[in-house]
This record gives sequence, structure tokens and C-alpha cells, in this order.
Amino acid sequence: MRLFATNIYEARRKHLAANIKSGLILIMGNGESAMNYTDNVYPFRQNSNFLYYFGINAPELNALIDADSGEAVIYGHELTMDDIIWVGEVEKLSALAAKVGVSKVKDPASLKEDINKALTAGRLLHYLPTYRIEHHGVLKGLDPQLSPSASLITSVVAQRSVKEAVEIEEMTKAVEITRNMHLQAMKTTKSGKFEYEVVAEILRQCKSEHAGLSYGIIFSVNGQVLHNHHHENLMESGRMIINDSGAENDMCYAGDITRSFPVSGKFTAKQKDIYQIVLEMEKTGINMVEPGIRYIDVHKAVNKLMLTRFKEMGLVQGDVDAMLEQGVSGLFMPHGLGHMIGLDVHDMEDLGESYVGYEYGQQRSDKLGLKSLRLARKLQPGFTLTVEPGIYFIPQLIEKYKSEGKFADFVNYDALTSYYDFGGIRVEDNVLITEEGRQVLGTYIPKEIEEIEAIMA
Ligand code: GLY
Repeated sequence: MRLFATNIYEARRKHLAANIKSGLILIMGNGESAMNYTDNVYPFRQNSNFLYYFGINAPELNALIDADSGEAVIYGHELTMDDIIWVGEVEKLSALAAKVGVSKVKDPASLKEDINKALTAGRLLHYLPTYRIEHHGVLKGLDPQLSPSASLITSVVAQRSVKEAVEIEEMTKAVEITRNMHLQAMKTTKSGKFEYEVVAEILRQCKSEHAGLSYGIIFSVNGQVLHNHHHENLMESGRMIINDSGAENDMCYAGDITRSFPVSGKFTAKQKDIYQIVLEMEKTGINMVEPGIRYIDVHKAVNKLMLTRFKEMGLVQGDVDAMLEQGVSGLFMPHGLGHMIGLDVHDMEDLGESYVGYEYGQQRSDKLGLKSLRLARKLQPGFTLTVEPGIYFIPQLIEKYKSEGKFADFVNYDALTSYYDFGGIRVEDNVLITEEGRQVLGTYIPKEIEEIEAIMA
């Protein structure tokens, strides 16, 4: 198991304890999750907060940090002989704990006892929102009035949002593996193959670099379906592919990259027109992000650019600012421009999107597109985020709006019918906000039309 240096975890916990000041901080790990019966489990994924403060990537662990004293305790079992027989001997928990700077390891049964003792003494218990059944198990039987701690959530979000140099290194590794997955996909896509054949190549590349996936692969000729996890379509010339796939490296840092390319390896004139707009949107977004700018303003600027280009093409008409204000762009890009990324592909989403992506009091819009914007707040050096504009032609949505007369003054519905079999295009990179501006993580991943055509030739 690869870990950061001991002092990284010690410093992270010390910083958190200093912020919280008093009481106990409970950081819950994940357990195994049964797939179809107890012993047949999904691949284990440790809780990202546990990884951040305690690093140990193993199931059935929980930890307490005493905010007053700074002392940390890990609760978990050492291996039994049965474990050794069935899963093999691994490093002792006490040895792993020492590597992350924790000298005290206790039996899981004493966790509730220790918490109850503190509660009885009038101390506070801080814990994060739960999303797994085993987290509920940890809390079961404790005072039912307890609830997740807003001060702990905001402290963890503030800390994890600003990536350390060692994290940027790991994220860059994840993007490099992701880059190879994308190049492999471009090289192996051919008319007449099924999508799953290319998905197999992406997975092979990922596994060959000792990585897993940071989310389910989106690889489809039906790119207009935003989170399309089906891979059963036959790929035919004339269709566009969206490949949105990312590696999670062995330290559990995520890459999240999207590239779009024609099945035939050669863009048609129509595909080029839309692709160039998306690429211009992406480059504009990347060039705009810097400390101090609100990401919602980048989202809006990129959407305005799309509407401007669509107006030039005759797909929409009228005042671009009015269209933007009324939410016309959501018809073509119903998702947000991007999200934070780190140990989670949507970083810290378990802690609540509004804590992570919105400032206190910043209202989330209910308009299509903006309502799915996960990151709206002011950017700071050290933030890592995705910039991922897209254009999609969703026949069902276009038909619905048309039949409702929605945006009738702005949208040229007749012109859109010829795009009903177009699918979608998205281009996405992972970006670090620096003091000076920004840095796209990893080695450049081809995205210009000529570059993609050369790779696919
Ligand atoms: N890459 C998939 C997502 O961001 O939801």
C-alpha cells in the first residue's frame, strides 16, 4: 500500500484539529459492499476523507481525532487466522497506523464506548455526512439528536479544496494514465466495431498501469445522453463518439478527461463546425480560470460564446444576452461547465455540493444547465477542477420545448431537425489554479481536429 510521508497526515490532522478547536472528530472509513451476496463484494473503495487524514486503504476502519489534544486513534481489527487463510497476510494495522503517525490502534468495539464517554462528559462529537450503510452502523445507538457538523464540513472542504504539491503529483499521474486510455480509444475505434470492444481497450490500458476507474466509462455514439454507461452500440461511420473516462491511480486520485471524435476518423463538415465551437468554448474556459474569478461567470461566458456561434450558424436568433439570461443555452448544454476534482472525481460531493461549489449565501439557479453547475464559487490557487463544455442535440428535449413554444422567438427549431442524429460533443481537461493563473494537468492530450485525425488514421 502506497502512502504519503507520515508528516503529511500528521500535518493535515493537526490543521483540522486546530480549526475545530474542541471535541471529538469522527472520520468514518468504508466497509466492503456486497454485490449479490455477502461474500461477493464490489471492489473496495476507501472513504476519501479517511484516505486524506489517515491514508490506510483498507476496509472496516474508523478513527477519532481529539481536537483538544490533537491525539488520533484508529479503530479496527488486526487480521485473524481466517483472514490470513482467505485473503492473505497483509501489513499489520498497527504498522500501517504508525506510518500515518498514529500510535494508538483500538478494537472497533471500543469506538462507541469512547464516543459515549466523551458525550457524557459534555464534549461535542463532530462527524461528516454519511452515505453508506456502515456509517449508519457506527452512529447507531448514539444520541439520536446528533447530526453532521457544519463546522467540520466547512473545515474539511476548505482544507481538501487546496491541493498540496504531493496531491498535484498524484493527480498528474492519474491524468497521464487517463491520457493513455484516451489515445488507445482513438487508435482502436473503427466503424463496424461495437463500443464495448473499445471500452475493453480503455480498461486494458488502465489496468496495465496499475489503476482503476474514477467513474464508470462513458463511451458512446449517443453522446447526447450525458451519463451514458451502455456500450452495446455498433459504431458506424458518420457518428461521433464521446469518450469520457478517467483513471483513479493507486493513491486514489482521479483523472476525468473527455475527448470526442468521429467513428470514421475523419470529421465531416457538420461535425467540424460543432466541434470547433466546443473546442473554442473549452479553450476560452481554460484561459479564463484564475484566482478570484467566479466559476459561474466562466460557465456563463462559455455559454454566451456557444450562443454567439449558434447565431452565426442560424440555429438561434435574437439578443444573445437575453438568450443567456433566459436559459436558452441549457437546451444545448444541460450540464455545468465543471466541478472540483481530487480524491473524488466530483471532489467531496459526499460533503454536499453547496458546501464545495458555492459560497455561503450564493443561490443555485433552477435553470437547465445552471442547476447542474456543481462549481460556482470564486477560485483560489490550489483548486483543481474540470473544464468540460459540451454541445448536445437531444431530440426529445428539443421536441418538448418546440411543442411548448418555449424560446420560440430565439430557437430555430426547423434548423435543428437535421441534428437529431448528431449525438453530442464534449471536450474536457483537468486544471490547477495557480497564483499566476492556471495549469492544465498532465501532458497535452490531442484535441485539435488535425491531431485527432492523424492519430486515428
Ligand atoms: N466525468 C463524469 C462526470 O463528471 O460526471
